[in-house]
Amino acid sequence: MNVFEVSHLTYSYPKGKSGVLKDISFAVKEGSVFGLLGPSGAGKSTTQKVLSKLLDGYGGQIAYKGKDLSTYGKEFYEDVGVGFEMPVHFNKLTGQENLDYFASLYKNTLDYQDLLTKVGLYEAKDQPVGEYSKGMKVRLNFVRALLNDPDVLFLDEPTAGLDPTNAKILKDLIKTYKKQGKTIFITTHLMGDVEQLCDHVVFINEGKITETSTVRDLKKKYGRREVKVEYRNDASLETVVFPIEELGKNDEFLSILNNREIETIHSGETTLEDIFIKVTGVDFHG
Ligand SMILES: Nc1ncnc2c1ncn2[C@@H]1O[C@H](COP(=O)(O)OP(=O)(O)O)[C@@H](O)[C@H]1O
Ligand SMILES: [Mg+2]
Repeated sequence: MNVFEVSHLTYSYPKGKSGVLKDISFAVKEGSVFGLLGPSGAGKSTTQKVLSKLLDGYGGQIAYKGKDLSTYGKEFYEDVGVGFEMPVHFNKLTGQENLDYFASLYKNTLDYQDLLTKVGLYEAKDQPVGEYSKGMKVRLNFVRALLNDPDVLFLDEPTAGLDPTNAKILKDLIKTYKKQGKTIFITTHLMGDVEQLCDHVVFINEGKITETSTVRDLKKKYGRREVKVEYRNDASLETVVFPIEELGKNDEFLSILNNREIETIHSGETTLEDIFIKVTGVDFHG
């Protein structure tokens, strides 16, 4: 089943330039991690805000669990969790007090002591959030997004600005959440996240979709498997690249193997990063 079906979505900010989203269509499958990728300013956060009902006045159709999104009222917010890109916490209140406050906004909430332990914040729960490190705040934000045990979790750039340890904690939590059959919608420009987390991806650039695929198919479609050989040629170092197919029958490759002093041999696939640049025409890092 599709949790979201988005058809011909358009959006312009009331006071901004027109056409931030231009005719976007995609579906988000239940129990999957869906990645919306694209460079800064592409329209990722805007799409997420429209889907999570934080922005109204869009064009096109959005169905949530088979029903028009605009027909949902407050009950929609009981169903979804949102991890904001720039979370606002009460800095003078403790982690626990922050969560108690946000939990009070929902009808039903999880027992979040367990979640606090899982994200490694249990010991710090009585400390004011103002004293938390960036990583701790991001982890608290994750717990906050899960307070109502949502069916669908929206995360905007969940690992941006995190050190590898905190990023891993978060990614593991996302994977655990998915295992419970939940659906996760993330926006990101980080290829590591995509590779490790996403089932489906949609690339957008300047408000338009440039590619829709599974991560596997993306690699199949754009990926080239090849072998790169570096060898000595008198004083200089030469590099040659061969296709992996029929490598054992490749005379030039065999001749180099037999007659040259090999420095390195690497096999490789086109990385998602390369694919990204190809698909969006934009080279974007962090
Ligand atoms: N509140 C706003 N008012 C007007 N324009 C906005 C607002 N928020 C974002 N935009 C514009 O919409 C476009 C898409 O922004 P955004 O969805 O935040 O992109 P991304 O998340 O992919 O970086 C950008 O051109 C941005 O400047
Ligand atoms: Mg954004």
